[in-house]
Amino acid sequence: MIARFGLAGVFLALPLTATGEDTVSLVPKPVQCQRLEGAFSVSPETRIIVGDNADTLLPVARHLAQAIKEQTGYALTVQPGGESQGGVLLSCAAADAALGDEGYALAVGPNSVVIRAARPAGVFYGVQTLRQLLVREEAGSAAAKPARTIPCVQIEDRPRFAWRGMHLDVARHFFDKQFVKRYIDHISACKLNIFHLYLTDDQGWRIQIRRYPRLTEIGAWRSGTQKHYSDGRGDLARYGGYFTQDDLREIVAYAHERFVTVVPGISMPGHSQAALAAYPELSSTGGPFEVWTDWGISKEVMDPGKEEVFEFVENVLSEVIDVFPSRWIHTGGDEVPRDRWKASPYAQARIRQEGLKDEDGLQSYFTKRVERFLNSKGRALIGWDEILEGGLAPNAVVMSWRGTKGGIEAARAGHHVVMTPNQETYFNYMQHKDRRGPGHAAHLPLLAVYHFDPTRGLSPEEAKYVLGGQACLWTEYVPAPADVEYLLFPRLLAMAEVLWSPLEGRSDSEFVRRVPAQLEKLKETGTGYCPDWRE
Ligand code: ACM
Repeated sequence: MIARFGLAGVFLALPLTATGEDTVSLVPKPVQCQRLEGAFSVSPETRIIVGDNADTLLPVARHLAQAIKEQTGYALTVQPGGESQGGVLLSCAAADAALGDEGYALAVGPNSVVIRAARPAGVFYGVQTLRQLLVREEAGSAAAKPARTIPCVQIEDRPRFAWRGMHLDVARHFFDKQFVKRYIDHISACKLNIFHLYLTDDQGWRIQIRRYPRLTEIGAWRSGTQKHYSDGRGDLARYGGYFTQDDLREIVAYAHERFVTVVPGISMPGHSQAALAAYPELSSTGGPFEVWTDWGISKEVMDPGKEEVFEFVENVLSEVIDVFPSRWIHTGGDEVPRDRWKASPYAQARIRQEGLKDEDGLQSYFTKRVERFLNSKGRALIGWDEILEGGLAPNAVVMSWRGTKGGIEAARAGHHVVMTPNQETYFNYMQHKDRRGPGHAAHLPLLAVYHFDPTRGLSPEEAKYVLGGQACLWTEYVPAPADVEYLLFPRLLAMAEVLWSPLEGRSDSEFVRRVPAQLEKLKETGTGYCPDWRE
């Protein structure tokens, strides 16, 4: 709880106490935070002043103005240049290079608020902190007034990891553009900067590809859906949807304004039955196939013995690259059954001609060719840890999901790694110990996420290869936006802290004390969360 002070408050430093009393409640916890006496009052006359680099900072200033409007009802004026007295000054200047690409300094005094950074991203993160500081008076009571006070603080902050990721599977269930933007809002408010948008799987292809119209005419629609794992019957309702390239460009631009990179996920050579339903000639047998209505791992996969598979993949990726400016393109590679390849004359001929050892070698051959193509376009391939099998492509980034073992192996071999071990980061696992609500039956409570450390088990030298970590949200059993938010919060808060805040000084009880204030904020915006998160 934040005490109220008079406007004439003296700048008296109250260092953070071990118990967290007298402190502000921020998630992720900043590197350094001093609570000072006093508070800044936001009024309709408060101005947002954009200092150095006004052009690049104007969108951030408008973002702040919008957030303040939502929280206070005041429409503040944004103006370039001017005095910080009585206002909120945003400044981005080379003089603050020591703060790094994403760090910021935030000083709230009784008469001014100043956010300084070396780069616009840092100013944006300072703004996210400011939004958390803007609290309702008498928070929680029925008579709560709109938020109008910001406690005086001195903060210096920067992230621990460069890759702070959150994934959403829009293939198993489709979530529209409006919800995806809201999801990006949630991610960026928590200072995450990567959105892994998982677009294709056996059960649906969700990105328009102009050269292959059947991918969405056929591949985006299935004739039924398996329901819960305990119910093998499912329904027979036609289900589907997809994003046009214009939709995706809009999503990318929206994310970019919030300093989030959208990393597209296109599954190959497995998890591709929806593509094979549209273009069965890419398979070993020639089909026919339907967009899958079950969950699990389909044995129908692309056949890398066929040259037309590479032609297809390169053409598809060319359009993907055109839509997504991300340096990283995620090409899946997980859970590829070898059954069809073992029986395929095409696959077996490729294995012989290329002198490959076996079907693992064939998957490695496939990934290396796809990587060469992506590299030739100036992009990097990232794939699930199965891409280690048969030999890793030379520049590939490994996303380790079957625990951290694959990631550790890749880091030791000098490859970049993103850790997303399912036991600690799969938000489709249930939060509640009684396993109620949507999601997979496994249990992943809040504190298990909080205990995740992407560099665990690595020496400091090896840990340099860990770009960061990510949480994943697979949607087989997650049909609706409300289900997504229920699974996301409050665990996203724990993941934000894992990926942003220093490892030192973590305390379960102190973290848990900071959660309710964040949940209050979520309530204000009508965002759902799991209310049983303490259990
Ligand atoms: C995965 O969960 N199959 C990456």
